[in-house]
Amino acid sequence: ALYSTQRETKSETPPSFAFAFDIDGVLLHVAKPIPGAAKTLRYLQDHNIPFILLTNGGGKLEAERVKDLSSKLGVHLTTENFVQSHTPFRQLVEGGDGEENSLRDKTILVTGADAAKCRDIAESYGFKNVITPADILFAHPSVFPFDPLLESVYASTHRALPKPIYAPGGGRSLTNSLKIDAMFVFNDPRDWALDIQVIADLLLSHAGYLGTYSSKNADPSLPACGWQQDGQPPLYFSNADLFWSTGFHLPRFGQGAFQAAVAGVWRRITGGHELQRRAIGKPYGETYRFAELVLGAHRHEILRTQGYHEPPGTLRSVYMVGDNPESDIAGANEYASEVGTEWCSVLVRTGVWSPERGGQEVLKGRLEPKVVVDDVEAAVRWALEREG
Ligand code: G3P
Ligand code: MG
Repeated sequence: ALYSTQRETKSETPPSFAFAFDIDGVLLHVAKPIPGAAKTLRYLQDHNIPFILLTNGGGKLEAERVKDLSSKLGVHLTTENFVQSHTPFRQLVEGGDGEENSLRDKTILVTGADAAKCRDIAESYGFKNVITPADILFAHPSVFPFDPLLESVYASTHRALPKPIYAPGGGRSLTNSLKIDAMFVFNDPRDWALDIQVIADLLLSHAGYLGTYSSKNADPSLPACGWQQDGQPPLYFSNADLFWSTGFHLPRFGQGAFQAAVAGVWRRITGGHELQRRAIGKPYGETYRFAELVLGAHRHEILRTQGYHEPPGTLRSVYMVGDNPESDIAGANEYASEVGTEWCSVLVRTGVWSPERGGQEVLKGRLEPKVVVDDVEAAVRWALEREG
């Protein structure tokens, strides 16, 4: 047997624990499975031990990414237990904390590695009016004074804007101008220059009308003077990872580097103001809360098909197996489950963190895992032994 703990026969009580696996650096290095990953997932499936895949990656429809992962790992996976960095954005269609905040019929701007793909994902979540930087660039090429980096991609993916952008003196009033109600970074953008320009334009606008400039920006005569205080669209990021583990032997920049670039430019524009933004993904509690809901529903389904009738709230521990202390480990350590489930952090040596880079001394406080093990197989073995 792969693990010393035997679970061959059905016991009276189902396992009161589950796993959450990070993908890059735990299960995969870009396209290549990490040794032991596939057989570990298969073992859990065969023994009806629930798990969820919880990644800060994104940029593909959940169904597509799962299909791709299944074929890379040779393990059948479904979207039922799968959360990408942007999956929780789905909740904002309904408003998240109330229908009055619903963005379903509002106009949102999305960007990412392939903004047209991000539009497809946003539409699959239920957002009805989604525009991309390419739509803006095509309708108004002068918004970006340089040669566009991805011209042919933009040419083939842009759509007509629902309304043109505001232009003073052009007979264009606000009511017939394009208004953006929220901005979303779905995954790692490629054309930082165009994206930062468009995002900054909207952060400086009056109430999200592209082409306007807010009169409230840093006006000291106003009681609440400052920036981003004139109904500008909120800016959402789905993944704060500065680095991630790829095929190269050193970690590479992730979406967090783009976020830092936007915040840095904003600081220069505003003379030192911190960019107000909303970030989800690991390590943020919102993502762990969402993951716990998805995992709970998935576990319930596994138990139901096994003939168990478990009352809700019986999941005692979730083992978060990750490679990035700042993301997977800090998130699990800091998340306080509303239903009292323990999130136990397990760090592997196959990804961003390694004893040579970062080393043991960074693993302190919020970054300190419950245990450090070689790889995902060893992580599951450790957890199963702990569970007895
Ligand atoms: O863009 C991917 C990334 O930053 C990390 O993905 O699976 O390690 O959370 P993951
Ligand atoms: Mg990772």
